[in-house]
Parts: sequence; C-alpha cells; structure tokens
Amino acid sequence: WILILDFGSQYTQLIARRVREFNVYCEIHPFNKDLNDFNGNRPAGIILSGGPSSVNDNGAPELNTDIFNWDTPILGICYGLQILAHNEIPGSVEKAERREFGRSDLIIDDRSDLFKEIPEESVVWMSHGDHIKELPAQYEIIGHTDNAKVAAVRHVDKQIFGVQFHPEVVHTVYGKQILGNFVSNICNLEGSWTAKSFIESTITEIREKVGDDRVVCGLSGGVDSTVVATLVHEAIGDQLQCIFVDNGLLRKNEFQNVLDIYEDKLHLPVKGIDASEQFLENLEGVFDPEKKRKIIGNTFIDVFDEAISHDDTFKYLAQGTLYPDVIESISFKGPSATIKSHHNVGGLPEEMNLDLVEPVRELFKDEVRNVGRELGIPDEFIKRHPFPGPGLGIRVISDVDKTKLNMLREADDIFISELRKQDLYDEVWQALVALLPVQTVGVMGDERTYEYTAALRAVTSVDGMTADWAHLPHPFLSHVSNRIINEVPGINRVVYDVSSKPPSTIEWE
Ligand code: XMP
Repeated sequence: WILILDFGSQYTQLIARRVREFNVYCEIHPFNKDLNDFNGNRPAGIILSGGPSSVNDNGAPELNTDIFNWDTPILGICYGLQILAHNEIPGSVEKAERREFGRSDLIIDDRSDLFKEIPEESVVWMSHGDHIKELPAQYEIIGHTDNAKVAAVRHVDKQIFGVQFHPEVVHTVYGKQILGNFVSNICNLEGSWTAKSFIESTITEIREKVGDDRVVCGLSGGVDSTVVATLVHEAIGDQLQCIFVDNGLLRKNEFQNVLDIYEDKLHLPVKGIDASEQFLENLEGVFDPEKKRKIIGNTFIDVFDEAISHDDTFKYLAQGTLYPDVIESISFKGPSATIKSHHNVGGLPEEMNLDLVEPVRELFKDEVRNVGRELGIPDEFIKRHPFPGPGLGIRVISDVDKTKLNMLREADDIFISELRKQDLYDEVWQALVALLPVQTVGVMGDERTYEYTAALRAVTSVDGMTADWAHLPHPFLSHVSNRIINEVPGINRVVYDVSSKPPSTIEWE
C-alpha cells in the first residue's frame, strides 16, 4: 500500500484517488504522523503532498525524517519536493521571481523510471510560489520547464523522486502515467485492491467485530447507506435491522418504491416508519434554512431513537461515513467553515450508546458505487442523483407545508421523469426543483392567475464540491416548463437556474 503524507494541499485527496485507480490501496495521514504506527504493516511507497505553506515560513509543516528509515521509495510533489530539498540544504528553496499557476511545458531530461514511456515534451500543471534555487548534491534534474530549471528530480542512489508540478490533476496530461510509474514500476505494487477483494475482507472484518451482537442501520434511500446495509447483511444476516423513515419530505412515491426495492430486491430486514406528521408539525412556520435543517436532523434522531428504544439488544450502529469525511477530521487543517449543516445519520448522539460500524469509511463515493455494483445492487439505485438528508424540506424555499410540498413533488416528478425519458438523467450529476416563495401574475385561458414559481436546477459535477449548471437543450426545458405549468395547479412560472458553484450552492437552502 501507499502512504500519502498530507502537507495541506487541496489536491491531496486527488492523489489518493489516482493511486486507487491502479487498484492499489492508499491512506492519507497528516505530515507529522508517527510512522512507528505502521511498523506492523509498512507501506511500499510514500508520497509527500503539496501544501499552501512556504518551507521557510515559521511553523511550516516539517519533514518527518523517519520516512528515510524504511528504504521505501518516496515521491515528493510540489511542497513535498521542496521540503526534501530544504531538509538537505536549509535555504535552498526561495520565493520564485515568477510565481507559476496553470499549464507549463515539461521537458524530460531522463526518461527512465518515473518518466518511463512519457513523451519528451508534455503539458503539466503548476501551482507554486517558491522554487528550488540550489539543488542538493545528492539529487539530479530529470525534467525542466522554461520557467523552472528544477521541475523534476531524482536522488542519485536512492529511490527518491520529486516533481514541482502536480501529476494528480487531470490537466497534467501524462500525470496518471507518471503516478502509475511510481506505484507500479518503482514501488512494485500490483493492482490487487478491487471491489471484490474489498467486499471479501470487509465481510470478514464485520463478522469479527460484531460477533453475535445486533446492528441497527438507518437507510436513506441513497447509495451509501444501501451499500453499508447490504454489506452488513451479507456478513451477519438478520442480526441486522434496518430502519427507513418517511419524513414527509421525500419525492413522489419514493417511500413505497424504495421500501419495495429494499424488501423485494435486496432482501434487507427493513422496518418502514411513517413519521411525516411529526416532521411537518415541527417545521410549521419555520423560515430559516439552518433552523429547518436542525429541526429535520433532530426529529430524525427522535424518531430513530424511539424506534429502537424498545429493543435494548442493539449494540452497533452501521453508518455510511465516507473517506472524505474522515480525512476532513484527521487532517491537521481545521475543518472548513460551516456553509450548511449537513444532516446525515452520522449525527446520532452519543447517549445512544451504540458502537459504530463504518465499513465504507475508507472509500470515495465512486468506489462505493463500484462496491454496490459488485454486491448486485440494481443500477437504478447506484446511478441515482444525490438527494439531501433534509429532502424537499430545503427545496420548499420559506416555510414548509403540505400544499407546497405537494406542488413541489409534482413538479419534481415531471422534471426527473422527463430527464429519464429523454436520456438526460445520467448526463447531469444532480437535478432538482425548488419551489420559490414568489407569487407572480400569469394568464391562463382568460383568467388572471397569481401563483408560485418553480426553479429548475441541473448541474454537472464530479464530487459536488464544485459544479456548473447543465446546458440542457432548450426544447427540453421548454417541454418541461409547459408540462409543469399545465399540470401542476398553483405554479404559473418556471425558471432555470444558471449559477455555478461556487459562488452559488447546488441546493437553494
Ligand atoms: P450544496 O447545496 O452544499 O450541496 O452545494 C452539495 C451536495 O450535498 C447535498 N446536500 C446534502 N446531503 N445531507 C446530505 O446528505 C444534507 O444535509 C445535504 N445538504 C446538501 C446536495 O444535494 C448536493 O448534492
């Protein structure tokens, strides 16, 4: 496996994703991790990430020189390279006269090992303010650009490499092959980490951990919780109890449809609980988006707690924590500002006294999907657009009531079913309708109308962190708009949201 030491780069997760694309397992740890923790299971290679600091800054992250103890191949990227040089000659890194952000042409001087089979000239992505002024004698240059004399280096007699550019970003055209050379040729790792091997080892781990005890799992209808429940069910059968709550904020017919799939196709032991009245009561008259999120989250906890309170045999709670959440909490950076308080089952309170089973906590979203496919979860589930925990509650802009929810449900159903019908559903990352509190004047037949506005939103994205509005065909938008206005009483106007994230977000609240 590969150890990635994080110096705070926004791209660290990308390094991990790229390495895993070679079916090689890797983990991200903070730069100051105690490496003795890995003595029982040493990595076959170490990658030092980039980072926002300058090695000369006071308090800049330092190199843990224990990395040299194992004779393991090392690749330093950007800050990772600079810290290697700085470690040999303090002061060898300085502020560059010309900072470099964006594309640059790499000219390779040595096409063995790291650059094996990479063309002599190719486009790479740079993002740095410092550069190496003086190369330590133990290192030699293997690549340069017009602006950076030292764009890639190799230790003369050890397996230590460094690159100033970012091989992990897609804009570095041969980046994937360069990382592949490091992982396969230099660290000699074979790609044996597949969804299948993950499932086998995870099932064994769950069995060992849980023994004869019982596990409860909250299902949301999304991919993560479904994959978790299916994995745990494969491992311990009916020692698992799943709970699926109707919060009254789901899409049209969703509660029943999803419950049917859970029962009939996935054979999960699931209990459906209709708590919609309780949620709607608690939400009555609340306008503030953050308050709505908190109320929905807390009501969920109450309902879940009540559902299992009659049964004290549950010892574990299974939940779908993903690797990005884990990294966020172990990284040395503080967690980023709360833009929206996400409600997930993750927020269950400690008093519940349940130990956690988090079988996908080392996986990225796309890896969870692969595991789901391998487990035989139907594609209609795997390919579903993300749907937020607070559901339609944050898509009725302003206060939530049944009438507005029903309008929104109908409009949403038309938009989503038309996307499917016209083969556009898989082209967009997520699509939704928001019901705006704006009433405007219209004319229907000879009558004046004064009704609500529906906003359609569809985005393209890779991970939901950044997104662009989807350029859906105009005839399609026009057809959906006609259908909504004609078929949904109470809505007389449809608009299309053309904002990207950032600065907007995907959901309106
Ligand atoms: P935003 O609106 O922050 O959303 O751009 C990014 C992605 O997260 C989803 N989202 C949520 N998912 N619980 C969730 O599980 C939540 O509370 C929540 N809020 C937003 C959103 O639908 C989009 O996919």
